[in-house]
Amino acid sequence: MAIVDVRAGNSPPRAQAVIGARPQGTNGDAEALFPQIHADLRQVETRLRQAVHANVPVVPEVFLHTVHAGGKRVRPALALLAAQLCGRCDEAAFDVAVAVELIHLASLIHDDVVDDSVRRRARLTANRVWGNKTAVLVADFVHSLAYPILSRCGDVALVRRLSETVVQMVEGELAQMFNEGSLEVTEPHYFQMIGDKTASLMALACELGAMVGGGSSAQIAALRDYGFKVGLAFQIADDLLDLTGDEERIGKPVGNDLRCGRLTLPLLHVLHNGNAAAKEELLPLICRGDLEVADIQRIRALLDRAGALQHAAEYARGLSSAAAELLADFPDNEARQALEALAAYIVLRTT
Ligand code: FPP
Ligand code: MG
Repeated sequence: MAIVDVRAGNSPPRAQAVIGARPQGTNGDAEALFPQIHADLRQVETRLRQAVHANVPVVPEVFLHTVHAGGKRVRPALALLAAQLCGRCDEAAFDVAVAVELIHLASLIHDDVVDDSVRRRARLTANRVWGNKTAVLVADFVHSLAYPILSRCGDVALVRRLSETVVQMVEGELAQMFNEGSLEVTEPHYFQMIGDKTASLMALACELGAMVGGGSSAQIAALRDYGFKVGLAFQIADDLLDLTGDEERIGKPVGNDLRCGRLTLPLLHVLHNGNAAAKEELLPLICRGDLEVADIQRIRALLDRAGALQHAAEYARGLSSAAAELLADFPDNEARQALEALAAYIVLRTT
């Protein structure tokens, strides 16, 4: 293979990156969602863009491609609001917000490699544009930057908690991967997997935000629990969107979980609690390889008839309400109202 000097700006070959019509370079989603912390989220956006410097140009190129795709910035919002609710939202809260979002963005780049995904947030994925090798290494780079940023807070416990959470996320992703195509998966397995891969980081955003905000141990625990429940609800809603969402709105193909052989909550509900007829109809469909769009529509209609989509949505709503109740002992201020609204939004979202 020919040697290319990437330091001179000759990045690896890339495909056309933007395929949707989403705004570039803005973070409209987050700003509309969290008006109370609009200006703070703008700052997080600037700090995110400034966080990545590298001698190899492809690193900021891939990173900015990912950042420009937008996103709801739920994790930075959780960190900032948790800090505000505990009484102090200063420099350390911004470091927490940036660190958790860097981990999230790195995990999505890795996840797209693992899932062999082509499209996310209406853009081609980094793996599709630059290839798996570059995507994995850039994600490693981005992930590593979170630790020095967090260490500026001067509390080694924060860095330890971040490291423990990344370990948990990788465990969740590995468990999911090794369970693909298995009919042995049960609802407890599913909740363990989504708790590890998704809810753990949302819980951490709240926990670290509360810690740097000066919260008491009880407040830190309550906010962590709130974040975990919101995270579970978020992933159940995400899995529902994979079955019922509109591809243009969610910016990625639907039916991905089914094609990967992943049993999400509605399917598990039919397999473990559904009637025999629904189970018999579902089993051959999900065991079939190479699912066509029509097969996915049939599965969706079946899950709808069996009440399984409604069951999963109801379950997510229950988690969202339980999360909001955990805020009851905090002062009823703007930060608390924003966290209550965030918990409600998580289960209503269509993107
Ligand atoms: C998206 O899930 C992915 C995650 C929630 C986390 C993935 C975690 C890792 C890859 C391990 C952590 C690695 C680092 C470097 C921090 P999904 O596939 O259900 O959602 P999607 O439909 O949006 O892809
Ligand atoms: Mg994925």
